[in-house]
Amino acid sequence: MSDRSRADSAHISPSAHYTGYVWYRHHLSDAAFATPFGRWVHGLLTPIAWGARVGFGLDIEHLLLQRHLLLDARLTAAIEERGVRQVVEIACGLSPRGRRFCQRYPELRYLEADLPGMAVRKRLLLHSEGWLNGRHQVRSVDILAEQSLEALFAGLDRTEPVLVITEGLVNYFERPVIEGFWTVLAAQLKAFPQATYLTDLYPDLKEHPRYRQLRWGVDIVGRLTRGNYPLHYRNAGEIVEAFARCGFARTQVLDPALHSQGLPPITQATLVRVIEAST
Ligand SMILES: C[S@@+](CC[C@H](N)C(=O)[O-])C[C@H]1O[C@@H](n2cnc3c(N)ncnc32)[C@H](O)[C@@H]1O
Repeated sequence: MSDRSRADSAHISPSAHYTGYVWYRHHLSDAAFATPFGRWVHGLLTPIAWGARVGFGLDIEHLLLQRHLLLDARLTAAIEERGVRQVVEIACGLSPRGRRFCQRYPELRYLEADLPGMAVRKRLLLHSEGWLNGRHQVRSVDILAEQSLEALFAGLDRTEPVLVITEGLVNYFERPVIEGFWTVLAAQLKAFPQATYLTDLYPDLKEHPRYRQLRWGVDIVGRLTRGNYPLHYRNAGEIVEAFARCGFARTQVLDPALHSQGLPPITQATLVRVIEAST
């Protein structure tokens, strides 16, 4: 835990402007979620994205949409089939998911959370559009800080199911750090009668035909965010074992190739996985 608390990950926050702009471009959010910085970074990366698409058949935005839409689909199923009424989205950035789901499900309680700077920005954004209310709120959290999750979960109803999401977060951290977070998260989730954790994850798929290009892409993401972007686990079995060690009783590893969510057909093996774990 001491390594986790010493670390600082604020350098990651600018990446939320890029993904926020991608969700906007694909009609998943309102203009309020798109920032000039996000638009600028998107423009800067356009030649690289074009090269990856034309040269190697890797579509960066398609990859992002795969994870985003599959997370949406799993959240929808949890709400409609398992009666989930409280959702916590950690590292929410400029994602419109909280807004979209609160509009669609008026009884849902949705807590968005991010590092303090990003949380302030998101709160202002939602507040200025008149979208914040008792059901939809934004809080500060730092997954690397002691007691931060405990404080975030303090106001939740422990007699009701809960669902926690992280998107675009876990591969910014080395394995011991992210597994430390998952262990604390699983311990917190055990206080609820039913708890689900949804996340995307980029495994280290060495056998993928575009593995070399993927490593270049990952290197670019690392440089742009002034950090590292380590890939974790070789296969689904390793992922399930890791989640079990962290305290999750059941884990599913979902491949977007088998859950297209209305996206154009995928022509080669996918690089991202969506994990659904429960305690
Ligand atoms: C790539 S963005 C993803 C944003 C959003 N989930 C999306 O998919 O559009 C990564 C997010 O992680 C947040 N983040 C980075 N370090 C964090 C930490 N220690 N605790 C909580 N959030 C963190 C950043 O502020 C940023 O909003």
